[in-house]
Amino acid sequence: MFIDFRLYQKRKVYIFAELKKALIMNKLKIIATLLFIGNMAVSAQNADFKKMLEYAIKAPSGHNTQPWKFKLMDNSIEIHPNLDCTLAVVDANRRELYISLGCATENLCIAAHELGYNTETDISPENNEYIIRIKLEKAMEAPEPLFRQIEKRQTNRSVYKSRMITNDTIQMLRNNCSQSGAHCYFYKNRESLYQTLADFTFQGNKVQMSDKNFKNELKKWIRYNKKQVKETKDGLTYAVMGSPSMPKWIGKPIVSSFLNPKAQNKSDKIKINSSSHFVLFTTNESKPENWIMLGRSLEQFLLKCTELGIATTFLNQSCEVEQLATKLQTTLPIHNEYPMLLLRIGYADPMPYSPRKPLDNEIIK
Ligand SMILES: Cc1cc2nc3c(=O)[nH]c(=O)nc-3n(C[C@H](O)[C@H](O)[C@H](O)COP(=O)(O)O)c2cc1C
Repeated sequence: MFIDFRLYQKRKVYIFAELKKALIMNKLKIIATLLFIGNMAVSAQNADFKKMLEYAIKAPSGHNTQPWKFKLMDNSIEIHPNLDCTLAVVDANRRELYISLGCATENLCIAAHELGYNTETDISPENNEYIIRIKLEKAMEAPEPLFRQIEKRQTNRSVYKSRMITNDTIQMLRNNCSQSGAHCYFYKNRESLYQTLADFTFQGNKVQMSDKNFKNELKKWIRYNKKQVKETKDGLTYAVMGSPSMPKWIGKPIVSSFLNPKAQNKSDKIKINSSSHFVLFTTNESKPENWIMLGRSLEQFLLKCTELGIATTFLNQSCEVEQLATKLQTTLPIHNEYPMLLLRIGYADPMPYSPRKPLDNEIIK
């Protein structure tokens, strides 16, 4: 048989070239597919992270300042304090600010678990601030029973229905509210320590409602009408305080006329009498790490109350006024722990919800 060797060589070269081309094309296709899958995974993860933040910002915060900023990383989210939102008078050492960040952390972790992520949290000091880092790792989906309560929770400052919470339910709540170093104590309406705490609250009002700086700071965060709420999406709105929307020039003098010890005590007395229990949250030490952990416990507690149809609100006066907090520490049988927050709980009709700032404003670019 005759073989044209040159032709054979040419064909061989041609075949190899074609093969090489095909291989490169295939490789490119595989790379493109991998990139596409990778991008899809990244954007799916991004969407998950954004969703977690949507739940984080539903957390409560002092005066509804929403004092958080978030940084999205590849496999973690950082929560930073937003120091533009500090309450220099009522919260000079930023205790309540860090408690609020703890609440946001708890919401974020609950949402992460619901979306199938494991979480690992650490708190670290950086330039006079504390930053919370939540590592997120995709895992099995693990439905979180409290997840659905996040958007239902609200602070309810109304007069409650004077219906008592049963001892069994209180026991369930008691079991639910301890995170490392945080404790909670329950005081039943009509028992003597309930009245002690009511008296401490009235003394707190006396101090705070006689302090011009406290009142000015509070007024700065009050939103008197719909337009103001729409513009700021923060603060204490006329609706959550049970007032109608009105121009600021009318609302401000009305609110000011109520900001005095007598009017405040009269209103708080009715509300305290209508509630079932006081709940006092304490910590072993009083440092930012303890405050953040307390915030996590508090949020768990608030969500559990929401699930059980129990209304909650804060009456923190006696924990905010330093000399009263110190007195409280030794007056109550709380093992010399630090009083952090006082809540009243009971049954009530729902109130309007507080606004939240758009999430995009809260993300550090
Ligand atoms: C640390 C902390 C302290 C608070 N202190 C008070 C308080 O003393 N009085 C009060 O009426 N609400 C207090 N609140 C409730 C906030 O005003 C409330 O969370 C905020 O307005 C947002 O409303 P929401 O809880 O209904 O979402 C406090 C909340 C936090 C987290």
